[in-house]
Amino acid sequence: MLKTDELKESAARAALDLVTDGMRLGLGTGSTAARFVAALGEQVAKGLNVVCVPTSEATRAQAERLGIPLTTLDETPQLDLTVDGADEIDDRLRMIKGGGGALLREKIVATASDRMVVIVDESKLVTALGLFPLPVEVVRFGLMATMRLIEAIAAETGCHGAITLRPGPGDAPFVTDQGNLMLDCAFGNIPEPEVLAFSLKRVPGVVEHGLFLGLADLAIVAGKGGVRALRRAGA
Ligand code: 5RP
Repeated sequence: MLKTDELKESAARAALDLVTDGMRLGLGTGSTAARFVAALGEQVAKGLNVVCVPTSEATRAQAERLGIPLTTLDETPQLDLTVDGADEIDDRLRMIKGGGGALLREKIVATASDRMVVIVDESKLVTALGLFPLPVEVVRFGLMATMRLIEAIAAETGCHGAITLRPGPGDAPFVTDQGNLMLDCAFGNIPEPEVLAFSLKRVPGVVEHGLFLGLADLAIVAGKGGVRALRRAGA
């Protein structure tokens, strides 16, 4: 196993310690979250009783294969705990997510949860958000106008860089589970994430963006020195 894979596995297994019988769980998306789902599946096979809401069709398929009981936010609108990965996370547990294209469902599920725990290898820790291109989910209608508006409001908050439509299979664009498109904004540095997050929500064509602010309560970070927990101040 590659070193990074081992670290993802360690973070995922550490998060399993937070799961107790009877919990309602949100299941994240991505390679780290998939390791948590796999470990959870082992426990369910041994008799652990949980019910879960997946944040993507990929996670749903994995959970179904493992026999993990699933529900929806319509049936179960409040969850105890969501465990998910991140593309970048800073020391205030502010994150960029959406590299895997599932940010909308991820944000809905995390917001419906009493706690969000983020599992990462230490390469995801940053001092300032923005090196990872910020994913922004947009509707198809008015795409060019939406891109121009995002560029303009981002510049007002000190963010500059190429905004590109995420490619999908062949010549087609990437399409999210919700049937939307994804933009990747290579800002390099986001000086004021809260201001940018607020501004992006004012663009009508923006469905949601990948800035997850004030959502994570705990980060489980696996590194060469072992696994450590970072708590959000006040969480
Ligand atoms: C998916 C996400 C993922 O959590 C993020 O991309 C991290 O993925 P990985 O664990 O594979 O690095 O936000 O939309």
